[in-house]
Amino acid sequence: MQAVTESLIAPAVGEFISRRKQMLIDGEWVDAASGETFSTVDPATEESLAEVPAGDAEDVDRAVRAARRAFESGPWPRMTASERGRAIWKLADLIEENLEEFAQLETLDNGKPLTVARAADIPLVVDHFRYYAGWATKVEGETIPVSVPGMFTYTTREPVGVVGQIIPWNFPLLMAAWKLGVALACGNTVVLKPAEQTPLSALRLGELIDAAGFPPGVVNIVTGYGETAGAALTKHPDVDKVAFTGSTEVGKLIMATAADSLKRVSLELGGKSPNIVFADADLDLAAEGAAAAIYFNHGQCCCAGSRLFIEDKVFDKVLPKIVDYSEQIQLGPGLDPETTMGPLVSSEQFERVNGFLDAGKAEGANIATGGGRPDSLTKGYFVAPTVFTGVKPEMKVVREEIFGPVVCAVPFKDPEEVVAAGNDTAYGLAAAVWTKDIQKAHRAARMLKAGTVWINCYNQFDAAAPFGGYKQSGFGREMGKAALELYTQLKTTWVNLGEAG
Ligand code: NAI
Ligand code: MG
Repeated sequence: MQAVTESLIAPAVGEFISRRKQMLIDGEWVDAASGETFSTVDPATEESLAEVPAGDAEDVDRAVRAARRAFESGPWPRMTASERGRAIWKLADLIEENLEEFAQLETLDNGKPLTVARAADIPLVVDHFRYYAGWATKVEGETIPVSVPGMFTYTTREPVGVVGQIIPWNFPLLMAAWKLGVALACGNTVVLKPAEQTPLSALRLGELIDAAGFPPGVVNIVTGYGETAGAALTKHPDVDKVAFTGSTEVGKLIMATAADSLKRVSLELGGKSPNIVFADADLDLAAEGAAAAIYFNHGQCCCAGSRLFIEDKVFDKVLPKIVDYSEQIQLGPGLDPETTMGPLVSSEQFERVNGFLDAGKAEGANIATGGGRPDSLTKGYFVAPTVFTGVKPEMKVVREEIFGPVVCAVPFKDPEEVVAAGNDTAYGLAAAVWTKDIQKAHRAARMLKAGTVWINCYNQFDAAAPFGGYKQSGFGREMGKAALELYTQLKTTWVNLGEAG
């Protein structure tokens, strides 16, 4: 299998992977000051793909100083909004020209099927940059009709300054794009830290950022561990804002650390999203949607539909359909065209998800299908699509984010009861409702405490549609016009026109 999949790697990808990896600081490619590196691993083979610089506080400081210079006195602040927009658009074009290469890098580093990276991750990245290229010329203020005689008052939206962006590993390039596109459109400068599990696509992106003509220091990319590079970025007194996507646990740490210098913070954290199937839904559509809701990206989605509520009178009809979908999924290396689900991202994540499977069994839940790595696969961090039934609300598998292909299926009786059960979680990222009754659908959507509600669909995303959490899923909205709030600050200017009245 491995020989077959290796032959599928494009020459440009092989060449990039074997090239020495350095970080992008102030427009230069540099090693970590310490000279240390770490391995990034192919989760399908458990073998190292490449050595990457292990940046730490010293490298972060260099990057922040470069970003500060670029923000205060480089060519970036003097560029027109139109020029900034065109640079972002150019970056989108360059990514599109290298789409296959980026898709392969994501597959090798993260494990996801190449068919998915090619059709979802990278096209969404391209679209995202184009969307925010358009916003660069539309960051507008207002004129305010104040009631003070002789005064003319207006607002302008100014960039926040130097922004630290900490990226997760589940959609490595896409999560970087969600943060970079809007930050650049608004005129900020950035220090970006990719996840240590998946740094390769961000480093390749750095090469294209160079080629797209961004001035040095506007985007700096520091690879390294969360506890060192990530923590240093959060702590640095000259970072004006930190944007984070990842675990709720680290999100809380970041918020506490940022309090020291009163940095602005935006957090996109975990989820335990309820997916509610009413008896009057199109049950085939709902079952297929429910399977996709949990299994897309191997369940490594903050918005995964991991608590599946099915109205009791159709529970025995819907559950077998989902079990059937689960069993049709083809586990394998992401480069294999037959694969529909790859391995989990890392050995830590593999252990973590298996720990949840053990906890579910120990607490008395039943496994309708799946339950661990299939015997046929002896290498790679694979976990079979798993459905738990017979769960109780207090069980660990119901309460905590698993971040793997594991769903809890729960029967319910009435709509009020199910919305309350859906909201019975510390999280509030997403929710979905499947029904043909338009009133029931909208009523449930209104009552669900989640940043996104999908009706008769799941996992719909668009650069124009805001996304973010309620409750412990974080705060701040990425994408759409809403994200401009996170990357600008409002200035009110009063002008004395020298006339009374
Ligand atoms: P994590 O939250 O530790 O990692 C995410 C990013 O934060 C990485 O870039 C990491 O280097 C950085 N980081 C880690 N510790 C940091 C610190 N002290 N200061 C600053 N940055 C830090 O997530 P991890 O450990 O990879 O996964 C654990 C769980 O987190 C998953 O099982 C899942 O439940 C959740 N998660 C949620 C994501 C989401 O999309 N909301 C994405 C990734 C993980
Ligand atoms: Mg961690």
